[in-house]
Amino acid sequence: MALNKVMGWAVALGLTCAAGPALADITIYSGQHKAGTDAVAKAFTEKTGIQVNVKKGSSEQMAGQLAEEGERTPADVFWAEQTSPMLMLSQKGLLVKLPENVVQAMHGEGYDAVPKAENQDWVATSGRARVVAYNPDLIKEEELATSVLDYAKPEWKGRIGFVPTSGAFLEQIIGMTDMLDEETALNWLLGLKDNGKQYAKNSVALAAVERGEIPAALINNYYWHNMVREQGGLDKVKSRLNFIGHEDPGAMMTYATIAVLNGSDNQDEAVKFVEYAVSQEGQQAFANERAEYPLRADVQSSFDLKPYKEIGAPKTSVTTFEDKEKAARLLEKAGLK
Ligand SMILES: [Fe+2]
Repeated sequence: MALNKVMGWAVALGLTCAAGPALADITIYSGQHKAGTDAVAKAFTEKTGIQVNVKKGSSEQMAGQLAEEGERTPADVFWAEQTSPMLMLSQKGLLVKLPENVVQAMHGEGYDAVPKAENQDWVATSGRARVVAYNPDLIKEEELATSVLDYAKPEWKGRIGFVPTSGAFLEQIIGMTDMLDEETALNWLLGLKDNGKQYAKNSVALAAVERGEIPAALINNYYWHNMVREQGGLDKVKSRLNFIGHEDPGAMMTYATIAVLNGSDNQDEAVKFVEYAVSQEGQQAFANERAEYPLRADVQSSFDLKPYKEIGAPKTSVTTFEDKEKAARLLEKAGLK
C-alpha cells in the first residue's frame, strides 16, 4: 500500500524516467567467432547499460559491406578476425581515430610484436597462433616438419591438411611473402596443392586429424583448444598441437582487430565499447571464452595456452591492403581460390 502510494507520486511527478541523456544502442559488425563477441558484449552491457546488437559474418564479407555502405552504414563498430580487412577500411578513410590510451593498451612489455595502426584508427584485440594439429597414432611429433615450407614437399603427399579459404591462411601467405618472397610463397602453395589435402574449414581439418583421416593439418591454435574444452579434457581427445617456433613463417601470429566507423551516429558509445574490449576486464571476459591470446600481461586465459612469449612467432610488419590483394592473387595463381 505504502509502496503503491510512493509509486503514484513518482508517476505524478514524472520521476520514473531515468535522469541524464539516454545512451544509444550500438551495432557491431563482427567477423569474430560468436562466443568471444557475445561474452564481451554481455559484460559491456552489464557494466554500462549500453545495448549491443551483433551482426555476424566473415570478416572479409563484413569489410566489403562496410566499404559499400560508407558513411551510411548502420554499424558503429567493426570487429575483424584478421588485420587485413581492417586495413582496407583504414585506407579508405572509413575509421575514426581512437584515443591514445586505447591504441596503447595492447603494447605493454612483451607485446611489442602486436601490430599497430599507422593512423591510430584500429587496435588489435587478440592473437591467434598458426599451429600444426597432429594425431600421435599416425605420426610422432619428432617426425613433423621443422619448417612450414617443408609440408609442401612430395614426402608429405596425402599427409598434410590445409584450409586455403580461411582468412588466417591468407594472412599466412602475406606473412610468407613479407618474410621471404613471392616466388617462395607461390611455390609453397603449388606444392601444397599437389601434396596436401584441402579442407573447407579449420574445424573440419581438425576433425579429420582427430579421427585419423590425415596425420596433420595447418590450423589456428584455438580450434584445438575449443575442441578439448568441448570434449571435456585432454584425455578425451587424440590430437595434439605442434608449435613450429624459431620464427619460422609457420609460427606466425595473426591478430584480431577492432575499430569505430566514421559513419557511426553513436561514436561515444562505440569508442566506449572498443575501450572496454582492450581493458583488463574486457580482455578477461574474452579470454574466458576464447582460446585466443589476450594481449595484456594482467589477463590470464582460462585455456591452457602455450605462453605468448614462447611461441617464437616471426616479426612480420603490418601489411597493407595491397599485400593482401597480392596474396589473394598468389592463391588464385596456384589454383586454390
Ligand atoms: Fe577462426
